[in-house]
Amino acid sequence: MSELVQRVRDVLPAVRQDLEDLVRIESVWADPARRGEVQRSADAVAKLLSDAGFADVQIVSEGGAPAVIARHPAPAGAPTVLLYAHHDVQPEGDHTQWNSPPFQPTERDGRLYGRGTADDKAGIATHLAAFRAHGGNPSVGVTVFVEGEEESGSPSLSRLLAAHRDTLASDVIVIADSDNWSTEVPSLTVTVRGLADCVVEVATLDHGLHSGLWGGVVPDALTVLVRLLASLHDDEGNVAVEGMHEAAAADVEYPPERVREETGLLPGVCEIGSGSVPQRLWAKPAITVIGIDTTPIDKASNTLIPRARAKVSMRVAPGGDAAAHLSALTRHLERNAPWGAQVTVTPGDVGQPYAIDASGAVYDAARSAFRDAWGAEPVDTGVGGSIPFIAEFAKAFPSAKILVTGVEDPATQAHSVNESLHLGVLERAATAEALLLANLGSDGQVAT
Ligand code: BES
Ligand code: MN
Ligand code: MN
Repeated sequence: MSELVQRVRDVLPAVRQDLEDLVRIESVWADPARRGEVQRSADAVAKLLSDAGFADVQIVSEGGAPAVIARHPAPAGAPTVLLYAHHDVQPEGDHTQWNSPPFQPTERDGRLYGRGTADDKAGIATHLAAFRAHGGNPSVGVTVFVEGEEESGSPSLSRLLAAHRDTLASDVIVIADSDNWSTEVPSLTVTVRGLADCVVEVATLDHGLHSGLWGGVVPDALTVLVRLLASLHDDEGNVAVEGMHEAAAADVEYPPERVREETGLLPGVCEIGSGSVPQRLWAKPAITVIGIDTTPIDKASNTLIPRARAKVSMRVAPGGDAAAHLSALTRHLERNAPWGAQVTVTPGDVGQPYAIDASGAVYDAARSAFRDAWGAEPVDTGVGGSIPFIAEFAKAFPSAKILVTGVEDPATQAHSVNESLHLGVLERAATAEALLLANLGSDGQVAT
């Protein structure tokens, strides 16, 4: 074991350079102007995997972003492990709020800053490190699958899974796209929430009207919209839409001080919702208004606004059905607009939640690998975020065991400005994955 740990250490400096090169590529699939960058990113990932010794590397797409599949065939009788990551990243947001340029990887205090350093180019780096530590020849089959449109909801993933079913078929699926309990304690993510969103438009008038001539007699659409949106929560901040599912969160301590510290909640601002922090974060629904189209203030005049719209995003607790939740939300929006205002709801993306059965030989092998790599027992956690394709993988490969690992930590700030990777976490995550491959292979004798 210690020899393998040492080999991870040896390969890490080169992996770190490769990660930095990937971070310099602006692979924002959601930005149509940067789709060439996503292609460049796929090419770079494919080259890294070829150079690492994968026998068979291909770039594939099914009408969406390019994904990379690399295969190291399983030795006779050994299981195959699928290692997942995504090479697309979130838009970087306001450059002026970054302390170093978002696509220029920069180290400060043991952390590597830059868009995608953690979410999820660190996932790619972890797989590279584990494979290289095994000298490009682990005693299990390894298939690396690096998707290019995860941050856009993986719209073509089911087509990719169908088109490459045989290539991707595996006994164990490791999804390196989640969080850790802390920089010193790893997590195994056992539940993710689902996601559903929609655009709600309200209309009260055929055209704008003088707000002095008609205000107080006919309603403006923006006032209607904010009242409608306000009806989505009760006074405590719990979701007030009927028909939402609630699950039971993993039993872990999560003190309120930690919430304040991790979120940067401003002084005087309270938490919302009732129940423990894990319950609210992982096992209850959440509804957020993520955008509004209306007259901007510098264009505002004394006019009753005739129509306005908002995008509403909902997280669905494990065990719930995201499509049914979207219908419930739609019904609520259609029925709760004040003053008879017209409401049109346009459904958006839907991704299912997932709860994993985290028991059995593969989980024993994983826990032992994590314990040895981190020197700490892994915590089974939920996450509030969504990884909708977990449910798709589970459906496509029902007998495969799914492990959700990750290289993020509570200070990562994924999707926000100043995203960063803790370099110690990268080493521990890579070590854990290298040990896992060993445990699952001939050195470990785990029956999958
Ligand atoms: N890596 C995240 C999911 C995640 C976030 C897991 C935090 C654990 C902790 C993933 O890249 C992501 O952002 N997912 C999206 C899914 C959506 C675009 C369909 C999300 O959660 O918003
Ligand atoms: Mn991710
Ligand atoms: Mn993400």
